[in-house]
Amino acid sequence: MRISVIGCGYLGAVHAACMAKLGHDVVGIDLDKNKVDLLSQGQAPFYEPTLNELLSELEGCGRLRFTTEMAAARGSEVHFVCVGTPQKRGENGADLRFVDAAVEALIGQVAPGDVIAGKSTVPVGTAARLAELLAETEPGATLVWNPEFLREGHAVTDTLNPDRFVYGLPDGSEDHPAVAVLDMVYATPLGSGTPRLITDYATAELVKTAANSFLATKISFINAMAEVCEATGGDVTKLADAIGLDDRIGRKFLNAGIGFGGGCLPKDIRAFMARAGELGADQALTFLREVDAINMRRRTRVVELTRELCGGSLMGQRIAVLGAAFKPESDDVRDSPALSAAAQLQLQGAVVTVTDPQALDNAAKRFPELPMEPDLETTLHKADAVLLLTEWRQYRELDPHDTLALVTAPRILDGRNVLDPAKWRAAGWTYKGLGRP
Ligand code: UDX
Repeated sequence: MRISVIGCGYLGAVHAACMAKLGHDVVGIDLDKNKVDLLSQGQAPFYEPTLNELLSELEGCGRLRFTTEMAAARGSEVHFVCVGTPQKRGENGADLRFVDAAVEALIGQVAPGDVIAGKSTVPVGTAARLAELLAETEPGATLVWNPEFLREGHAVTDTLNPDRFVYGLPDGSEDHPAVAVLDMVYATPLGSGTPRLITDYATAELVKTAANSFLATKISFINAMAEVCEATGGDVTKLADAIGLDDRIGRKFLNAGIGFGGGCLPKDIRAFMARAGELGADQALTFLREVDAINMRRRTRVVELTRELCGGSLMGQRIAVLGAAFKPESDDVRDSPALSAAAQLQLQGAVVTVTDPQALDNAAKRFPELPMEPDLETTLHKADAVLLLTEWRQYRELDPHDTLALVTAPRILDGRNVLDPAKWRAAGWTYKGLGRP
């Protein structure tokens, strides 16, 4: 099929490459010329495992190209809208400027029978509003809301083999011709048994925000348990193992630590609360305010625990921060709990050095005054305390004996509860986890 993908960020670049991998003829469109140039040379403009390999594999196949020209969308049968919906400055709601602009520009290029498939995460009600706009100009085309659930770090496999497809249609009807069009796009994963659900617009939009709210709630739940463990001497990791064995609960997303960040969960729960408020359903989501508050408290807790670890004062203490990305296998630092804690520690007088295998360039753009060091050993050199804040494999696998030789004081704060406390203590370290005795 001929496909256009509007917006070539984390979502769109991966989607475009994966659609070409599935055999389609794809044009990716983005206003950012740098992004388009890099992608045209087979290079991802951000770090995402296996994406560069996929782009190189597709180079020369003639089925994937990138451009800044919206007119290139003309002639495609399906147009995927993959632009960002960041949090509004100073407000909780989502900023829909990019989605609105993309759809308005696209409308001039679509023909009867075309399908515009919205993949961006939007507040409920957006699809109905955009469909009205489309009906005024090109009533023969259809808008479908087709949310994306990919995780950064696993984006390629999540796109090629998702857990489910959701098609939100104007009337929620299985018989709408747009269903067959999207079924053709996703023929390969549907053929291998991926479930597909047909809903109305509102439900499709809500599936995405509800899923992210649930995940955020699960993380904040276990982080709340970590707070209780800290007050009682319990161990939240063992608690999570034990409750996670109940398959109604499940162990996934029960890792207590410094909390969630990134470009999705924090802003999605806030946008969801803001939208519910507009709809007069704010009471239904007041619990998300608590989810957000528990999450933000974790960052403060890291600062408090580091102060304790350093004997009561942060002033002049050399702190090695391992991790800047909001999670491993990503160079994304949007709302990164690691960076937010590092910046707080610096403000409170600590001499902080941050290292990360992939995210330092992005981190330096956001926090230009925070010293960054690409080399792990140099970061650890003469540290008064080590903070593991993003659980990259190389930090999880640090050897306590080798590390001991580098630092001034053997103190470690395991912000992701991924180290073996007994091993580190046996090697002479003062070990602190979050929610662990
Ligand atoms: C999330 C959703 O998982 C995905 O389905 C949606 O499409 C986009 O938002 P992503 O932001 O890539 O994906 O990351 P995710 O793996 O969900 O992690 C989010 C944050 O939660 C990270 O900061 C991670 O470190 C944290 N986390 C995750 C925990 O603190 N504990 C856990 O147990 C799991």
